[in-house]
Amino acid sequence: MLVVEKNALTEEIEVLVEKFGSDRSSLLKILHEIQKKHRHIPDFAQQEIARLLDIHPVEVFSVISFYAFLNTESKGRNLVRVCQTITCDLLGKEALCNAIEREFGCKFGESTKDNKFHLEYANCLGLCDQGPAMAVNERVYTKLTPEKAVEILNEVK
Ligand code: FES
Repeated sequence: MLVVEKNALTEEIEVLVEKFGSDRSSLLKILHEIQKKHRHIPDFAQQEIARLLDIHPVEVFSVISFYAFLNTESKGRNLVRVCQTITCDLLGKEALCNAIEREFGCKFGESTKDNKFHLEYANCLGLCDQGPAMAVNERVYTKLTPEKAVEILNEVK
């Protein structure tokens, strides 16, 4: 008898489906968990999530495309997102980004050479009264100066 070993990613998704349920309202929660662990959502995971939730893979992909914190490609180990929305923009987002680009020798939209950081702009992080704001992975930092932002990233590094 041929025994097909189950892919580890499939098993992981099955556990998540068990935890959150198999209807489409679980989709975002499952994607969030996969993103958190793998830093992106591989094609195979998208297919498996669609299969286990009994939805079309295009639906999975469109949810990933809609949310800035979900990615289909592996990026730097730490995802740095600086808010580019109006309040943070007025509160010094540009100086912040310039300092980060200078310090790490890479532009927003790119990953550092050592792949430790991926820099991205984000839309409002929901802390407009405490801008400029920056998220590093799951954690949001507020009331930043360029020096403070660089210091935080060097500590993460
Ligand atoms: S405008 Fe930057 S957090 Fe809202």
